[in-house]
Amino acid sequence: MSGQEPQPPARLFSTPAGVKLGPLELIADGAARNFVLQIGEGFFHGFVVRQGEAVRGYVDRCPHAGLPLAQKLDDYLTPAGDLITCSWHGALFDIDTGACVGGPCAGAALRPWPVALIDGWIRTT
Ligand code: FES
Repeated sequence: MSGQEPQPPARLFSTPAGVKLGPLELIADGAARNFVLQIGEGFFHGFVVRQGEAVRGYVDRCPHAGLPLAQKLDDYLTPAGDLITCSWHGALFDIDTGACVGGPCAGAALRPWPVALIDGWIRTT
């Protein structure tokens, strides 16, 4: 035994460009999907919101308390689908900008995760 405690995997907050996340159809129109990418020894947690052919990505970390937003898989949007919501304390975020528009983190914003639809595929950029 080495006597050292095992270290948790590193948490990453960005990804390289060009990672193919999947075809557009992977996410229903008006819905969101969680993605976890292993990069080397670290893990990136993010989510993508689809509105028609528009895709927006954000790091899955609420600026209020640093928690992942969804307690149920892929549950990132309000019932009306017009805002991103954090399931812990009800923060609300604009889908296009990630800005907090309600709840306990006014003035803060989600960290963007740059993604784009390229030739029918959602990719990191
Ligand atoms: S952790 Fe998201 S609102 Fe508190």
